[in-house]
Amino acid sequence: MPPAVPGDESSSISGQTICVTGAGGFIASWMVKLLLEKGYTVRGTLRNPDDPKNGHLKELEGAKERLTLVKVDLLDLNSVKQAVNGCHGVFHTASPVTDNPNWYCYGKAVAEQAAWEVAKEKGVDLVVVNPVLVLGPLLQPTINASTIHILKYLTGSAKTYANATQAYVHVRDVALAHILVYEKPSASGRYLCAESSLHRGELVEILAKYFPEYPIPTRCSDEKNPRVKPHIFSNKKLRDLGLEFTPVSQCLYETVKSLQEQGHLSVPKKED
Ligand SMILES: NC(=O)c1ccc[n+]([C@@H]2O[C@H](COP(=O)([O-])OP(=O)(O)OC[C@H]3O[C@@H](n4cnc5c(N)ncnc54)[C@H](OP(=O)(O)O)[C@@H]3O)[C@@H](O)[C@H]2O)c1
Repeated sequence: MPPAVPGDESSSISGQTICVTGAGGFIASWMVKLLLEKGYTVRGTLRNPDDPKNGHLKELEGAKERLTLVKVDLLDLNSVKQAVNGCHGVFHTASPVTDNPNWYCYGKAVAEQAAWEVAKEKGVDLVVVNPVLVLGPLLQPTINASTIHILKYLTGSAKTYANATQAYVHVRDVALAHILVYEKPSASGRYLCAESSLHRGELVEILAKYFPEYPIPTRCSDEKNPRVKPHIFSNKKLRDLGLEFTPVSQCLYETVKSLQEQGHLSVPKKED
């Protein structure tokens, strides 16, 4: 269930339209789902509304009554303007980014900087949610980049794990964080959306505990150096707004179950 927000805002919500860009993506699909469940009207933007990979959106509860899908390419400013026109809020999730990790980080940082500058100039009420690596059940039929991070440890394609750490967050919590910062007038600035940080060694241990049937690596590729220490961060700002983060172990469990259910990961047959 979405977190309780003080006050009865059900009447105001029913009249509000939120635009979600890149609505068919991993995170955005969860935003659309939770917004519809809360009673919002949603305008989802897609590059190709007729692509079967976006079909799951039409099956969401409330979609028939309150979801419209419009064709938008972020690189076509006019199509963006038309999509956001008349909306009370915009959850901007779509991102034409590269797979190269350095260019990815650069692109995201520059895009956010530009958003802050334009928001200041035009008087737009901008709040930014910065998620770490996002995992959890997939609503969409295709697999996204952050989920592949986990899949490779289950298929046997990763023979060792790296001497590295990574922070994780559940996809539902990312969607809830966006709704919370939208609904709370006091929300401002940037919100780090992270549950906890794990060394890859801890990650594979959790996976092996829940799913011992898969060929999960047990050896670090770097046997010389001590284990890299996890990043230190605080998610207090979102917890203070009322977000209760899903523990990373539950998040990993749900991710693997979803990969199995969606047919991205075969389920090994149990031996008699
Ligand atoms: N997943 C993570 O771990 C993570 C962590 C931090 C931040 N983020 C950010 O969160 C956002 C969503 O990530 P995700 O994991 O949900 O990715 P995703 O499933 O790959 O979704 C990305 C979406 O962006 C859309 N898109 C790409 N180029 C576009 C363009 N030129 N015009 C319009 N739409 C375009 C894609 O639409 P098509 O289907 O048409 O390609 C897709 O719906 C991204 O901005 C990503 O950088 C993700």
